[in-house]
Amino acid sequence: MSREIRVEPVDDEAAFWDDRSVVLECLRETPPRIPAWYGYDEVGSQLWEEELSRLPSYYLRPAEFALLEQHAGEIADRLGPCVAELGSGSARKTQLLLSACLQRRRTTYLPIDVSREILERSATALAAALDGLAVHGLWGRYEAGLSYLRSARAESLTVVLLGSAIGNTTSAERAALVGDIAKTLQPGDFFLVTADLVKPGPVLEAAYNDPPGATAQARFRLNQLAHFSRCFDGDVVLHRFYPRARYVPETMTVEGNLYATEDQTVTLRALDYTLTLRRGEPICHGHSVKFHRPEFVDAVCAFGFQLDAEWIDPVWQYGLFLFVRR
Ligand SMILES: C[S@@+](CC[C@H](N)C(=O)[O-])C[C@H]1O[C@@H](n2cnc3c(N)ncnc32)[C@H](O)[C@@H]1O
Repeated sequence: MSREIRVEPVDDEAAFWDDRSVVLECLRETPPRIPAWYGYDEVGSQLWEEELSRLPSYYLRPAEFALLEQHAGEIADRLGPCVAELGSGSARKTQLLLSACLQRRRTTYLPIDVSREILERSATALAAALDGLAVHGLWGRYEAGLSYLRSARAESLTVVLLGSAIGNTTSAERAALVGDIAKTLQPGDFFLVTADLVKPGPVLEAAYNDPPGATAQARFRLNQLAHFSRCFDGDVVLHRFYPRARYVPETMTVEGNLYATEDQTVTLRALDYTLTLRRGEPICHGHSVKFHRPEFVDAVCAFGFQLDAEWIDPVWQYGLFLFVRR
């Protein structure tokens, strides 16, 4: 790797695959929940990037690509030289923005991700595609990456959160995350975020379940369960579960569940924890909250931001929002 690319740990790897207090809290919820980041071991990251997110029914990716393609220049006009991204993955969409930034100024990109493989691969690919881009990957969870950024006191910083990942949180987690981002930014810094807006349930359920003949969603969710079980010396038997996502309009949430196909107990020996499930009972593997635009903007602004610009895809009702720290 050249001097312009480096990836360094900012979290303790053992801690982020083995954070017992967080995991036990999630397992004690109703229904029990597996934290979403367990979906992104090497196999899961590959499945998400190369298969799941490319299903024709998964409108979030093309909607976001189109918004960034159309507006990268306007956004880049406003930003400073440091762009950090939470849960950067392959950063293929971010590349559009970084390319526009580089046409205007020297730029350092700080991707933050729990998957070391994807951080290294995306850093190498970006540096090869974008001449002059400095990439400093931060390997760890969002909180650890933000804490690193605070200690590094990057000047004119933008924090980016794409993929409507802001919706993959409970309301408490969302408040903590936006609060943490606000604490990391200085007045005049930017927060660029996408949010999926409320739309008809059938469109959402089609996006979050496999279409006929496809298996990418199911393999991704079952891999998350298998990875989780391995991390905690569990005895999960995969064929005793099937994934199904359903939209709950009252909470504006797509709930992603793995349902038990038979009565069973799952023992996680390293946690000294046993889950007892009756046939048809779910384990939650993650959820995706959809937003009404005004409430979303107000909720972010409550943390000390002001809306600077917004772009909404009228077909998919998908929003790209640029907030400035007050
Ligand atoms: C659904 S992918 C999205 C990737 C990219 N942002 C996009 O929109 O295409 C989520 C990425 O976030 C990472 N991730 C998920 N939860 C995380 C967490 N708590 N901390 C750091 N990275 C996380 C995963 O490893 C994965 O690469």
